[in-house]
Amino acid sequence: MIKDADKPLPDAPPPGAADWTIDQRWADYTPAEHAVWDQLFARQVAMLQERAAPEFLAGVDVLKMRQPGIPDFAELSARLLDLTGWQVVAVPGLVPDDVFFGHLAERRFVSGRFIRTPEQLDYLQEPDVFHDVFGHVPLLANKVFADYMQAYGRGGLRAAGAGAIARLSRLYWYTVEFGLVRSGNALKLFGAGIVSSHGESLFALDDPSPHRLGFDMLRLMRTPYRIDDYQQNYFVIDSFDDLLRQTQETDFGPLYTALETTPDIAIGTVLPTDRVYTRGQTADQAVPTGLNYP
Ligand code: PHE
Ligand code: CO
Repeated sequence: MIKDADKPLPDAPPPGAADWTIDQRWADYTPAEHAVWDQLFARQVAMLQERAAPEFLAGVDVLKMRQPGIPDFAELSARLLDLTGWQVVAVPGLVPDDVFFGHLAERRFVSGRFIRTPEQLDYLQEPDVFHDVFGHVPLLANKVFADYMQAYGRGGLRAAGAGAIARLSRLYWYTVEFGLVRSGNALKLFGAGIVSSHGESLFALDDPSPHRLGFDMLRLMRTPYRIDDYQQNYFVIDSFDDLLRQTQETDFGPLYTALETTPDIAIGTVLPTDRVYTRGQTADQAVPTGLNYP
């Protein structure tokens, strides 16, 4: 889920649920709510055929997400458990960081249960079940990405102890939420914040204005992000294997210490050391970028 919505967190878990989970109450969704899911799903699946990472599309299929209606978390979890040992659990909204990381570390993905209204198809501030489930869950069927998310949860629990959650959040933001991945000579989408958004699915690959830069852990942890508009920096991983390997092999402790005395890099800056896939253009210098990259 998007962790930075500008809203105060409730300070206590829902009654009877120390781990903040609630029942999805799947039977309570109305036909109109299922119809919103179906409309969003059809539009995104069509949009993403040529745009999303093949691993994402494979997850949609293997989890049988093409069945109509909002997925029942119990059924989805049964399939995921079989494939990668993950489950999807419902929560009332944003949860405290330690609760979020704790669930990830146990291979539980927390999802909102509510769905946006028909007036909110293109924009909403808080993650709903379409963002959380359509955006995040397909890649949890991929063994490598599944391990990355669990490692992230464990890393989050450690970062909390080191007062470094803000740093680690940037990694989540620029990979799990807004990541791009190389696929042959093309770039593909995999971040949940992109693939669950019709507008950003177009923008992130085709628009001439954002920078698309090679993934570099330290660089990325120095880069702030905006939560109220399309991104102006996207980072491109070489592969999911590479992302998992780099994050597992790097002890973030020394990085967090080094970062305490290293300035941030303003959004929209390109450094001489950046691996540039596309350099963002302002409107008057715009040039078509096409889909082929070195
Ligand atoms: N290696 C990281 C650490 O030392 C943990 C981590 C792994 C974080 C994978 C994110 C993803 O904290
Ligand atoms: Co999210």
